[in-house]
Amino acid sequence: MYKNKLYILSVVGARPNFMKAAAVHKAIENYNGSTHAAGFRPGVQRQNNRTTEIVHKICHTGQHYDEKMSKIFFDNLELPRPDFYLGVGSGSHAEQTGRIMIEFEKVLQAEKPDLVIVVGDVNSTIACTLTAAKLGIKTAHVEAGLRSFDRDMPEELNRLLTDQLADYLFVTEQSGVDNLLREGINKNKIFFVGNVMIDSLMHYLPAAEKSDILNELRLSSGEYVLVTLHRPSNVDDPGSLTQIMKTLGNIAHLKKVIFPVHPRTMKNINELEMMPKNRGDLILTEPIGYIDFIALIKSAGLVITDSGGIQEETTYLGVQCITVRNNTERPVTVNVGTNHLTGTDLKKIEETAASVLHGKKKNGRIPDLWDGKAAERIVAVLTEGTWE
Ligand code: UD1
Repeated sequence: MYKNKLYILSVVGARPNFMKAAAVHKAIENYNGSTHAAGFRPGVQRQNNRTTEIVHKICHTGQHYDEKMSKIFFDNLELPRPDFYLGVGSGSHAEQTGRIMIEFEKVLQAEKPDLVIVVGDVNSTIACTLTAAKLGIKTAHVEAGLRSFDRDMPEELNRLLTDQLADYLFVTEQSGVDNLLREGINKNKIFFVGNVMIDSLMHYLPAAEKSDILNELRLSSGEYVLVTLHRPSNVDDPGSLTQIMKTLGNIAHLKKVIFPVHPRTMKNINELEMMPKNRGDLILTEPIGYIDFIALIKSAGLVITDSGGIQEETTYLGVQCITVRNNTERPVTVNVGTNHLTGTDLKKIEETAASVLHGKKKNGRIPDLWDGKAAERIVAVLTEGTWE
């Protein structure tokens, strides 16, 4: 018989949340499936029987709702259908955040979970943390402490506020611990556990190796540039977006460029008065599912992105990455990994791309604790207070 029952409600909302929640979900399933704590932490011999049973449910806010932004990820990542779907969709930041809070409060009042887990930095993350905190429900933030120090980014505001409220702060890199301590967060709440995004990446890498996406898109390994762009600062202004498309067109004269386009970016591209004509081998596609996308990153000669997660995935895979931003909340990918932070100066991006494609590569290594066990450590902290 279990002495304790722990009811955890995990929140997902937008595309980058799904791989993180999937890693936590798998670790909880493993924990519940093992009769001894040692069963979910191979190599650690323990005598005592596990005393906690975790009930885990998932709430999808519906911030991302397209088949290609959401459902395909649940399928690829073997996530169960969400137990609660709030269906909030798009809107202004206040509308989206407000709608999530109103709907999530109803779920919390009916369900009364012991703990809410939020991941990442999207509007769903802060909306659900604030709602839970106001009802006196404990919260855990997975991927806490990351800071770009750029308050023009909606994600930075979400990160700062979520970390002030959360009871458990699970951190992916040392900079996160330093930032939280500097902001006065009690050190007993901070746990440097590693990166759940990398847990999922490692788990699905064998499946990605069997993907047929390179054939489907007629790409040869190492011979193409993979692009993703969706940050409002890059894609919402028609002038900047036109210039970015022009730069990608120039790079496509060196190597084929494959650009799976986020809905926000596609909407804006469609509204551009003038698409640059001379676009070389620049191929735009719809958003691509998780496993195929991992396959595309792994075999790319270069990745150009403004995403957060892709900076980490390229670092783990040792793939060269140019980040089209002036800052990164993930400095370990630059200091230790293969990330080039070029800023948004398009000439610099073009020069860096040319130099990487001509063989001038940055050496990197895998950051500490990005070993596929971050979610196991999180479950250990939640059930036993520590993993050591
Ligand atoms: C959100 C997150 C960002 C994350 C990104 C990953 C916030 C503030 N931003 O940005 O941190 O990196 O997701 O994708 O939470 N849309 C669709 N279909 C969808 C989802 C969105 O067409 O399934 C459209 C919306 O109508 C809207 C646009 O895409 O026009 C932006 O969606 P939104 O969720 O507001 O923000 P993202 O830019 O995706």
